[in-house]
Amino acid sequence: MTAPARILVTGATGAVGSAVLRALDAAGHRAYGVSRRGGPGARQFAWRIGRQEPPRELRGPWTAAVHCAADTRWGLPVERAEEANVAPLRALLSLIGPETHLVHLSSSYVTGLEGSVASDAPDAYRNSYEWSKAAAERLLHTERDSVDIVRFPIVMGARADGRLDRYSGFFWLPASLCSGAVPALVAHEKGLMDMVSTDDVAEHVARLVADGPPAGRRLSVLGRGDRAQRVDEVFDTVLDALNSWRSEHGVPPLDPLPYVTPDQWNRFYLPFAEEYLDRTQLLRVTAFRAYQGYLSVTEPFEVTERVADTTRVLYQSIRGWADAHGTSARRIPRPWSA
Ligand SMILES: NC(=O)c1ccc[n+]([C@@H]2O[C@H](COP(=O)([O-])OP(=O)(O)OC[C@H]3O[C@@H](n4cnc5c(N)ncnc54)[C@H](OP(=O)(O)O)[C@@H]3O)[C@@H](O)[C@H]2O)c1
Repeated sequence: MTAPARILVTGATGAVGSAVLRALDAAGHRAYGVSRRGGPGARQFAWRIGRQEPPRELRGPWTAAVHCAADTRWGLPVERAEEANVAPLRALLSLIGPETHLVHLSSSYVTGLEGSVASDAPDAYRNSYEWSKAAAERLLHTERDSVDIVRFPIVMGARADGRLDRYSGFFWLPASLCSGAVPALVAHEKGLMDMVSTDDVAEHVARLVADGPPAGRRLSVLGRGDRAQRVDEVFDTVLDALNSWRSEHGVPPLDPLPYVTPDQWNRFYLPFAEEYLDRTQLLRVTAFRAYQGYLSVTEPFEVTERVADTTRVLYQSIRGWADAHGTSARRIPRPWSA
């Protein structure tokens, strides 16, 4: 008699991992989840991967492992980004065997500024998060003969209702628009902002798991590719969603923000800000600079799996964020003044 298939999902309480766990459960698999703090249910465990030994329950053979755990903060020093996103992968490789079907989740932005994961130089990437995700992919190239690497861009919620288990990453935008932390949109209006739904990723992973391990290292890239929404369309949708929610809750609408190109911002606005703004305002302005690289992408990602249109899912996800963050969504933006 063969043992039942056991599937491990790391990062199972996160935005993507929770959707992956549900999709695997729905497909009838015996899926186990791990995260730093552990999650609900008998098959979810706390394990700080890369920092602790795995709990006893997680030993033994694994049919498949889907590695979703990551620290997606952009501003960590490279050594800490390494500890957060490369050391856990190393620890996971020690837990599973070469015969385990490993599905590793990565980002479409992992190819950084040079269009490839080959460089180890931090300045070849927009930030240390991208650098560490590229280092993780390189580790897989040296350590695994068989692996599925799945890259995807910005993640929105479920296609049915836009809900996410965790609103991180992109959701700085609605929060900043409501608080007034963003004085202008530093972006190429016609730049591309590619997106997927958690369902797109979870369903793709479930299909890969059902098909079994690939013969070699296989890369899938999910997204809309050259049909991705333009930056101005994304901002319009975000503003529509926020204002429809605010109108239903008796809160005045947000005004659209002016667009400023990154060049105008860096040459004119930033020096002005550095001279006249107070420390708190300046910190917000400097933090905002980190997003510029993502709002000025003009080359589409080459996708291997084109997902369905994401306009509606973006709208619903922003409303879902507002439902879950009512106090932030109700804020009246503080005007910018020097
Ligand atoms: N969200 C996006 O827009 C996006 C876009 C492209 C690619 N990705 C990739 O998709 C994957 C999932 O991202 P996400 O957005 O779902 O992240 P997330 O919502 O921030 O969730 C991260 C998950 O990883 C767990 N975790 C982090 N470090 C861990 C460690 N050392 N040991 C155990 N668990 C750990 C967290 O546990 P706790 O809850 O206990 O902290 C949480 O369950 C990542 O590989 C990310 O790079 C995400």
